[in-house]
Amino acid sequence: MKLAIICAMDEELAAINNILNLSPTQQLTKAGNTYSVYEYGLHTLVTVVSGIGKVNAAVTTQTLLNHFTVDAVINVGVAGSLIPELSFGDVVIADDLVEHDFDITAFGVPLGQIARMDTFSFIADSKLNDILKTVELTGHNVRCGRIVSGDQFIDSADRAKFLHSEFNALACEMEGAAIAHVCYLNQMPFAVVRSLSDMAGQDNKGVHSFNELKDMAASRAALVVKYLMENI
Ligand code: ADE
Repeated sequence: MKLAIICAMDEELAAINNILNLSPTQQLTKAGNTYSVYEYGLHTLVTVVSGIGKVNAAVTTQTLLNHFTVDAVINVGVAGSLIPELSFGDVVIADDLVEHDFDITAFGVPLGQIARMDTFSFIADSKLNDILKTVELTGHNVRCGRIVSGDQFIDSADRAKFLHSEFNALACEMEGAAIAHVCYLNQMPFAVVRSLSDMAGQDNKGVHSFNELKDMAASRAALVVKYLMENI
């Protein structure tokens, strides 16, 4: 299988490279990002760091799909928890994703609904998720559910509570739904795997714990990628 892996930050891709021990067979730079190709067992991987936020993620995903033939796209990285039961290093596998900051509520449309789009949320590929769901991480929970994305670092208990109650989401980050949106438009199967670096402000320590724990969380997410590569 040929899989694309998109991370928002260098630290997230570094954790994957560390665990999979990859060295590239080919590299291509387009629109400011370098796409690297690797052979891993029977599979081929194309990896790229998109940069942070929905626009960077969308440009990177479309550029990748324009230049590489892949079977699926996996977005991997860290996220903020939106519920007290999920904490640092736990993993959320997205069932579906919503852009929480897409707001045309002035027209009576629900928050998060993309204007004139035939879906509210972007649903992850069930075959990929069936494999991902079976991963076990010692000492950490693995949960499936909704992830919301927006161009905001969430660092407020009120905002975290709102995002959970409005969208029934488990985690928040800044790219997954944009990657999912581009995959949806291209009819490309995708999955999103995120490990929790912070409580999105529920503990009043969002930025602090993100800075302290992002590498730990990135390495948990990377373990899930390894599991996927070995079981796909
Ligand atoms: N990525 C990791 N933690 C996050 C948070 N609290 N808000 C948005 N993106 C994040």
